[in-house]
Amino acid sequence: MCGIIGAVAKSAITPVLEGLARLEYRGYDSSGISILANNEIKTIKAQGTLSNLKQRLLSQALEGDCCIGHTRWATHGRANVTNAHPHQCGQVSVVHNGIIENYLQLKQKLIQWGHHFNSSTDSEVIPHLINHYLSQQMTQEQAIKKAIAQLKGSYALGVLINGVSNNLYAIKQGSPLVISQGNEGAYMASDAMALGADSGKIYYPKDNELIKLNSHEITLCGGANNNEIHYINNKHCAKLVSKGTRSSFMEKEIFEQVDLLKRLSVNNHTSEYSTINFKDLTKITIIACGTSYYAASVAKAWFEKYANILVEIDIASEYRYRSPIVTNNELAIFVSQSGETADTLAALRYAKSKKAQTLALVNVVNSTIAREANFTFEIYAGPEIGVASTKAFSCQLAIFYKMALEAAKQRAFIEKAELTQLALNFAQLPDTIEKVLQRCAEIKSMAKKLCKYSNILFLGRGALTPIAQEGALKLKEISYIHAEAYAAGELKHGPIALLDEHMPVLVIAPKNALTDKLLSNIQEVQARNAPLFIIGDKYIREHIHLQEDQFFELPAIPESILPIISVIPMQLLALYSAQILGKNVDQPRNLAKSVTVE
Ligand code: M6R
Repeated sequence: MCGIIGAVAKSAITPVLEGLARLEYRGYDSSGISILANNEIKTIKAQGTLSNLKQRLLSQALEGDCCIGHTRWATHGRANVTNAHPHQCGQVSVVHNGIIENYLQLKQKLIQWGHHFNSSTDSEVIPHLINHYLSQQMTQEQAIKKAIAQLKGSYALGVLINGVSNNLYAIKQGSPLVISQGNEGAYMASDAMALGADSGKIYYPKDNELIKLNSHEITLCGGANNNEIHYINNKHCAKLVSKGTRSSFMEKEIFEQVDLLKRLSVNNHTSEYSTINFKDLTKITIIACGTSYYAASVAKAWFEKYANILVEIDIASEYRYRSPIVTNNELAIFVSQSGETADTLAALRYAKSKKAQTLALVNVVNSTIAREANFTFEIYAGPEIGVASTKAFSCQLAIFYKMALEAAKQRAFIEKAELTQLALNFAQLPDTIEKVLQRCAEIKSMAKKLCKYSNILFLGRGALTPIAQEGALKLKEISYIHAEAYAAGELKHGPIALLDEHMPVLVIAPKNALTDKLLSNIQEVQARNAPLFIIGDKYIREHIHLQEDQFFELPAIPESILPIISVIPMQLLALYSAQILGKNVDQPRNLAKSVTVE
């Protein structure tokens, strides 16, 4: 899930460095560039974030019209300068996103042919193979094709060759790649968001299409007809995002949720959702990973309760390998903020092969998942930069809520009056979220107390169990505090054994039909001296006496929209805990925003 970029343009290093900044969410453990300057390829790399590379480049005046760049999320080999890309062999330099599964065999063969390797990466075999075939008098295109034919796995490559002619090539197999011909140059990148203002038109190459980039022309190699390149508008063009006055992108994105939900409640996209025939569906299967999976879990509760549809949910990496049964008239929904998650994409391809109707729910509308599904619905969250997903989650929930109401309408399962009330409830979201955010200081106090512990148990019930899971995931991701979530009723079936004064428990406790049962669960926690924290209704506060910084009162709102409201304090809790512990909120260790490897 590294980010790759290349440019053939005047001062090509500028769009490459700008693109790397936009791609950093794909990995940030090292970065590097190769540039063709004065008839030689210069490669400069640095460990750590892009700022380290920029620091190294300060001392060098690098000018050239052909440049490739890479930001890395380590798969093979530690995060250090040697393993950073580009990898160069002679006059061939390569940036790679993906995994070469047979690299060990290829490496052995190349070593026998006299090649020496510097890194422990899988990627380094690629420039060596190309260089080997170039030394056998093959043309650049022939050498790349011969090398590619031996690779097993997934890849998107930028290949820079300094030869009789200097060229930048791009090719992909299974990994995302986009090409753009602008007025000032030609560009390639892992995704459209990486490209700058000069990239209004983009092309998504097919697998194994070898493309040559010149500043004035993009060519399909091997005699293919250039008319096969169908450009589309780049919807992400030049949308440079800044965090403004906020301390992190994550903080900005949490606070943006008021406006986003406002826009979603004003815009009536219901006609869009009515393109789905919910009436005749036998089943909905929702497949996703991470936070998007928790959105699917909440959606299941809504579809079942309001539309009486059978809903199965699955983690994409499990679904794709367990021969799931696809029934007639089944709708398979794939939820993905990035639209590039490799496991979700593979699951989508599986469902399509079994003739399911497929629907993508994505934030990035030009993404691979969006392009491959039969239907695509956008969540309208805008670019999400923080690695920990926040605003995308609430927007996914908002769209699912609207879809569930559309399904309820079509299937006439609930009374019209109830349906109208459920729609009105949605309109309460922006103001209620704003009220919660205005009380962020209360969550900060809770975070101060909570982040002293190394383990935390989160509990919820019903549609709030996935919210507890999402809260635990957020906390793990950015504060590195170990957190697990359970349905409260499960506590007595095992996790209760963990409870003592060192194991705090955070409960999401609304006022509903199950409140009394939840109160019993809370008593069980208190009886074992576990420090208790509650995000809950006023009614709970009246029954359980806790210190101010251990209780956050949820606004009185209808139960249907509670999942979207109660996740807000969870997001803030993770944010403040990470800040108090001095962690990098936007770029947590070991993670990347877009997970394009298995
Ligand atoms: O882009 P996707 O929604 O497909 O990503 C799925 C997960 O990788 C993602 O939600 C991940 O769990 C986030 N880091 C959560 O904050």
